Parts: sequence; structure tokens; C-alpha cells
Amino acid sequence: MLSDQIRTVFLSYFEGLGHLRVESAPLLPRDDPSQLLVGAGMVPLKPFFLGQAQPPRSRLTSCQKCFRAVDIDEVGDLSHHTFFEMLGNFSFGDYTRAEAIQFAFQLLTRELGLDPERLHATVHPSDELAERLWQEVAGLPRERISRLEENFWQAGPTGPCGVDSEIHYDLGPEFASGPADRPGQGQRYLEIWNLVFMDSERLEDGRTVPLARPGIDTGMGLERIAMVLQGVPSDFDTDLFAPIQEDFAARARARLPEEQRRRHLRILADHARGASMLITEGVLPGNEGAGYLVRRVLRRALISALQIGLEGGLGACLGAVQAVLGRQYPELVGAGPAVRAAIDEEEERFRETLARGREHFEAAAEAAAGGEIPGALAFRLHDTYGLPLELTEELARARGLGVDRAAALALMEEQRSRARAHRSSAGTGLGQLQLPASQFLGYERLELDSEVLALVLAGELAERAPAGTEVDVVLARTPFYAEGGGQQGDRGRLRWDEGEAEVLDTQPAGAGSRVQRCRVLRGELSVGLGLVAQVDRERRRGCAAHHSATHLLNAALHHLLGDQVVQRGSLVAPDHATFDFGWPQALGPERLALLERELNRAIRSDLERGVQLLPLEEARRQGALALPDELYAAEVRVINFGEFSKELCGGTHVARSGEIGAAVLTGERSVGAGLRRIELLAGAAAEAWWGRERER
Ligand code: SER
Repeated sequence: MLSDQIRTVFLSYFEGLGHLRVESAPLLPRDDPSQLLVGAGMVPLKPFFLGQAQPPRSRLTSCQKCFRAVDIDEVGDLSHHTFFEMLGNFSFGDYTRAEAIQFAFQLLTRELGLDPERLHATVHPSDELAERLWQEVAGLPRERISRLEENFWQAGPTGPCGVDSEIHYDLGPEFASGPADRPGQGQRYLEIWNLVFMDSERLEDGRTVPLARPGIDTGMGLERIAMVLQGVPSDFDTDLFAPIQEDFAARARARLPEEQRRRHLRILADHARGASMLITEGVLPGNEGAGYLVRRVLRRALISALQIGLEGGLGACLGAVQAVLGRQYPELVGAGPAVRAAIDEEEERFRETLARGREHFEAAAEAAAGGEIPGALAFRLHDTYGLPLELTEELARARGLGVDRAAALALMEEQRSRARAHRSSAGTGLGQLQLPASQFLGYERLELDSEVLALVLAGELAERAPAGTEVDVVLARTPFYAEGGGQQGDRGRLRWDEGEAEVLDTQPAGAGSRVQRCRVLRGELSVGLGLVAQVDRERRRGCAAHHSATHLLNAALHHLLGDQVVQRGSLVAPDHATFDFGWPQALGPERLALLERELNRAIRSDLERGVQLLPLEEARRQGALALPDELYAAEVRVINFGEFSKELCGGTHVARSGEIGAAVLTGERSVGAGLRRIELLAGAAAEAWWGRERER
């Protein structure tokens, strides 16, 4: 059974049992600081369990996009993934254990035709009821039910939780990793479905209290059930991965032992899906949060690509990824050019990093002369020069050298736990360093003289940063806009007498501070150094045009649909923007065309931009639009374009709407229940789009 059909059978089965089918929410959770990304079907539904919101029905079913960062290092075995799809049925104060077990067993054995003899269940040792129900409702013999202490599930440090019961499928003795294989251990018994009996809530202060709306949360991994139903030896051989793996395999030129080759192909296929799905939602490779995950999976994929001798670049796999997931997630097709560009750019940066890392490797190899590269040196190559340990090892092997891997790994682990300690105490690694404040002058100036107030290298304050390093720089005065309000951070250059650094990104760093993420190209940065800071003008112009265009679009939407439409967020990049808003149905092509016409009329009217600083109350009184749940300071910045639009905003804008040139709305789609997204291209990006359309 193909995966499309499995989704349909699952969702229709539960619809038949009175469940309302809800669309997948985006991977980026809204309003949930406890989660970086949605990692289970229940995550977007938490408010219903917690009694914070009324579910549209007491029974829901969904196929939810999920991303689990904790599993990154496991990818390469039979059945672990970063991005995967979770099929689930949910009850909020409706049915309980007996129905959950009965529904699951019937679906598996009747609708999907699995042999009941091969099904095993696990239950929490305290859950005698579930153990009994498996026998009474599903007729499972006692010896195929085991008690597992780890049968307890919670979505994060706080929130709904409860004991659970897993369903495992016996793949057969040929899958056994040893004689001790049993459900929950080894590879022979594959966990395909988890039924969670939600009845408690874990609070911030560590207490566990009864859940407002106790119920059922189940999750079945689509990739795993596909593996079972398609009778293939791993998830990677199902129709959800095979075409992507084949694309890579056909372009792999290195001769490798079969096992290694298989592992790299799996990593490539998984990470290609994971990175593409995240970038589709506007998460670009970066150094923090979800952006860091994208960078991490892309870098891991690029290492595998190097090792299998991949021809034609990582980004060339996008067509195969779209062929597999594009029907179910059309946004992946819409975002294609952006995804391709982001992957290509990351590949290019990786190549540059590697080239530099190799130079430093040569020096290290000479020093090691015939023996072993010490762990501390291998760690430095990785940490300061970005050369992955695997590649240091490979380069060393080619020269007949060894690497003290254990020592290098120990140093990496040490660094990770330092970073964890930082993060848990301060939210971001930088917050705890209490960086000095930096004066932002970038609304008026794109270039100015400044000096270095602080440097952060690998999470620690440093006095200097030599050529080749990536370093966070705090400047006394800065023209660089730090990412905020959906607008990406500025890039550009720092120049001083004998050196130069590329500014890769600018991020807020708490309490009035902001950091420029830099790569030192020549010379050395040091605290106290005087320099010239220059914003990349083209990029800033692109961001400003897109940002101003989203304001005009927001106003036009209010004119068209009335004030019930609420903005839910936006992403403003130099070459595209997205605008999310709450609305129950699709706008449809006609209304989209009307919007586009009004937007362009406002652009052509060449409206003057005004900026005012107002007390929040006054801004609201004047009807300035604001994100409903965004917190604003007592005094706010209000941007208006003539009488047409007025909005609270800290971003950068064009001086007159005419500078935008023109805008095109390339699409409108759902990105979650009641949430729509409009894609917008402005200025040069709009022109480039027409060019591409004409060629088609
Ligand atoms: N939340 C549970 C899990 O992710 C079941 O959906 O396993």
C-alpha cells in the first residue's frame, strides 16, 4: 500500500468514527516556547488538552508534519528520522483507553490487514487496566503484552502527559539484532504506534496535577507503517524515501563498503527531506534555534555527500523530494526556488569553510609528522575552522596518520555541556554573557565608523579573533538591523586598516545589545579596534521593499475582508516575503487578484512613509495595526504610508511606496487550521519572477 493511500485509509477510518480531520499545523509551533519545533501530532493540540481552548470537536484526527532534533544522530539506522509524518487520533474528554485500543487494533488488523499474530503491546507497569483491555478488547494473549517502565509520554518539560501503551510489529527473526530482542529492545520488534492516555499536566514548578481535559493522544509513524505494509527492509526503502535515495545513489561516485554507503544514502535522503521542509516554512540556515537545526542537517548531509563523492550538488535532490512530498505538502513546491537557493548557498559556504579548514589541516599534519593528530588539534580544526572530525580523519588516513578521536570527542562533549548549561540558564547562549549595549543607527545610516566593544568566540568572551574564525561582534554604534519582527538581520562588511570581516547575519542579544555574526577574512579583530561598518545595500533595499510591501498588503487585506482578519506573523527576506493571517477559508484566485491590484495601486501612488514614536495607547487609538499577541514597549514606533496604512513596527522601510516598484502575489495557501499564508515578491524579485514565468 502506497503512503498516500495509508494516509487516506487512516484518516477516513477515524472520520468514520466521528473524528474531525484537521490539517497539519506548521512545523514551527506558534505561541509555545516549550517547543522549538512540532515533534508530535498532539503538540498543536495542547491547548485543547489543557482546557485553554475549545476543540472544534471532541474527536480529532490528523497527519502532522513532525521534526525531531533529538534523533539526528540516530539517522542512518532502519527507522529514525528528523522529519517524519505522524498519523494520530485524539479524544478530548471523550473516549478513553478501551476505545483507543479497540480502534487501533481494528484499523491495523482489518483495514490495513496486518497479521494479528505479529502484534505485540507494551504497557506501563502500573497500568493494569491497559494490560487487561489488550486481552479483552483485542484478544492479545498475555505473553505478547510486556510491561515497560519507559511507557510514559510527555511533550516537553511541562504540559499534558500520561502513561502510554505502544504497539510493536514483529518483523521476523531475520531482523533480530541478537537473542535478547524484545519489544522496546533491538530491531526485530518495530514500534509502530503509541497510544498515550493523557490524564495529567506537569507544571513549571515540577508539580503534576490532573489534566483539564483528559483524553487520548495517539501517534503512528507513517514511514514505519509504510515499511511494514510495503514489506521492505527499512523505512528508507518505502515510497517516502526510495526515490530520494535513488537520486543520490545515481550520483554517488566514491567506492565505499556497502554498509557505509547505505548509511550515507540514508542520511542524505533524510536530511534532504528535513531541511527542505523546514526551509519551506521560512527557516533559513543560521546559528540559533530552528535555523541552527537546518544548518546542522545540511552540514551533516554535505559531509555524507563528500564521502560518497556526490556529483551535481546537494540541492539537485529537490526534485526528488518534491516528487515524494509535494502532493501532500504543496507548499514545498511553491517554495522550491527559495529552498534550492538556501541549500546551494549553504553548500557554497561549506565549501569555503572546508577549503580554509584544509589549510589548517596541512599545518597540523606536518606537526604530527607520521604519528597521530592530537585530539585537541582535531577539536580546534572542528571548532575554530569548521572542519568536521570525519573529514579530518579522512584527510589523515590519506596521509597514513591517525587521529585521537576519543580525545577530540571528549572535548566536543565538554563544549556541548557548557553550551547546554549556558542555554538552560539564559535562554540563549549569548544572554548569559551580558554583552554591552549597542546603539542602532541603521534607520538613517548604512555605513558608519565604530569600534569593537566585545567579541564572542565559541560561546566565550574573547579579546581577539584571527582570520578564518567565525565570531560574534558587538559594536559601539551599528548600522546593522538585528533580526526582528519577521525581518531578517542585515549582512555586510567590517573593514579596518589591515583587515576585513564579512557580516553573515545580525541577531538581537538581549538588553539593548545586538551581535554581528562575522567571518574574519583578513587580519585580526580585537576589542577596542576602530573600523568602518557597512551594510549590504542591495540586501537591505530588498528587505525594505518586501517589508513595506507587507504593510501595504496588510492594509489592503483589511480593506477587502474587514477588521476580523488578524495578522499572524510574517517573514521578510531580501528576495521574498510571506504574510500569515487568521482566516477560515482560501481567498481564491479572484480575491488574490483584487488584493494584488490594490497593493500595486498603493505602490504607484508613491505614498510617503512617516515614522512616529508614540505611547502605545495613542498608537492604538489612531488605529495602528499590530500583531494581536505581540508585546510592545510603552512607547512604540508607528510606520505609515500616507493614509493608506499605519502599523506598529521596528523594521526598516522604503522612504516612499513607489520605491517598491511593483509586487506580485505568487500564491496563497493554508499553513494550519484557520491560518493562511500569502507569498509576495517585490521589486527586483517580482521582475525576476516575470522573467521566469515568460520562459515557461
Ligand atoms: N505523543 C505521542 C508520541 O509522539 C503519541 O502521539 O509518541
